[in-house]
Amino acid sequence: MKPLRVGIAGLGTVGASVARILSQSGFALASRCGRPLQLNAVSARSRGRDRGFPMEGVAWFDNPVALASSADIDLFVELMGGEGGPAKASVEAAIARGLPVVTANKALLAHHGVALAKAAEARGLALNFEAAVAGGIPIIKALREGLGANRISRVYGILNGTCNYILTTMEATGRSFGDVLAEAQKLGYAEADPTFDIGGMDTAHKLSLLAAVAFGHAPALDGIHVEGIERITPEDIAFADEFGFRIKLLGIATRDGRGISQRVHPAMVPHGTPLADVDGVFNAVVAEGDLVGKSVYEGRGAGAGPTASAVMADILDIARGVRLPAFGAPAATISRPEIVPLASHVGACYLRFTVIDRPGVIAVLSRCLADQSISIESMLQRSRSPGEAVPVVMITHEAREDAMVKALAAIVSTGTVMEQPCMVRIERF
Ligand SMILES: NC(=O)c1ccc[n+]([C@@H]2O[C@H](COP(=O)([O-])OP(=O)(O)OC[C@H]3O[C@@H](n4cnc5c(N)ncnc54)[C@H](OP(=O)(O)O)[C@@H]3O)[C@@H](O)[C@H]2O)c1
Repeated sequence: MKPLRVGIAGLGTVGASVARILSQSGFALASRCGRPLQLNAVSARSRGRDRGFPMEGVAWFDNPVALASSADIDLFVELMGGEGGPAKASVEAAIARGLPVVTANKALLAHHGVALAKAAEARGLALNFEAAVAGGIPIIKALREGLGANRISRVYGILNGTCNYILTTMEATGRSFGDVLAEAQKLGYAEADPTFDIGGMDTAHKLSLLAAVAFGHAPALDGIHVEGIERITPEDIAFADEFGFRIKLLGIATRDGRGISQRVHPAMVPHGTPLADVDGVFNAVVAEGDLVGKSVYEGRGAGAGPTASAVMADILDIARGVRLPAFGAPAATISRPEIVPLASHVGACYLRFTVIDRPGVIAVLSRCLADQSISIESMLQRSRSPGEAVPVVMITHEAREDAMVKALAAIVSTGTVMEQPCMVRIERF
């Protein structure tokens, strides 16, 4: 059987790992996919660097677009990253040349996925991106294939290992966000510029793809409300525990009669529920379908091995001749969904106020909430001494998001609080 000749652009954490697997096991994998897999050509920036696999017989390209246009490969694997630039140009070139594409690039797909899928499908080519969401968890396959007959009403999860590591470590050690982030950077769990991870944008990219595959529409990144974990304190985590919750950064996409709501923010999830027990760099995704009910997927969301595992699964599918529409439904038929604004979201919240400990303060807070018809389920106040700054913490009953925003603005305008109130939404899935 003729081998499938693979070209890889990008030989970093993921690309070098995929190249190693192909070098070591490409021929043996023929027993799984019906034909040998052969690493034929690669591209990266610095040619001289040892990448941990033999380069003999593997063609080198300085320019990834030239690699994608090469006549000597049957499949183009993009593992450079980046929303545009060489990643986009090379994927476009590969499709124009008639090559199927595998990529792990969530930013590229969240921004340009529909255009690329349309171009690929018009030429009868696969565009596979299992590794772009939740690393080693085969969630795209699960949604697109295993749950294909379901009407999915909700898909949500922990999609960023860096944030989950930081929150889990803050909980275990009581250390501050900044302290734990610095350590995560030293250990290689967080990027030198961690903004995308901790600010929630990485989760938003992944959520846009998950929602698109789950609900059968175009990714709608600009329709996602995004908040990061920067303002979560060890105090919030300890209070959450007292109330029976853990704090996780979640991506949540819901479909109802009005359209799609998508949000990324820290959330309190009750102890004993599937997402509450996902620790460290692990990811987890929950999908709710009309036929299957709730199904839960957990595993390693990043790193060389888990991500390469997902890339290899996509390569095996192409070797087998399996070709599915990138987003589950044909790209020519999918459109932007109706976005349900966050303002109409209804849910309970955890609120933390920093106030001066003096009589009448609680009455002011309660009145501003009551003015918006928000009632309090429970409250905690840790007194230090009169006249000092103390935290006041409340769990509210369910309320509309816009009412909560108005109430908090009213509280700030009274001058009662010493800093912006902290609000964490509660998700009792
Ligand atoms: N790392 C993970 O755990 C993980 C998990 C899921 C998805 N992903 C996705 O996988 C992709 C790759 O991530 P990574 O962590 O492997 O990245 P990385 O370690 O930074 O590697 C990037 C690679 O791309 C090469 N490159 C960059 N610009 C290039 C250009 N203009 N021409 C040719 N080569 C170029 C670099 O070359 P040099 O080596 O010569 O500098 C490097 O080999 C990204 O889309 C990322 O979002 C990563």
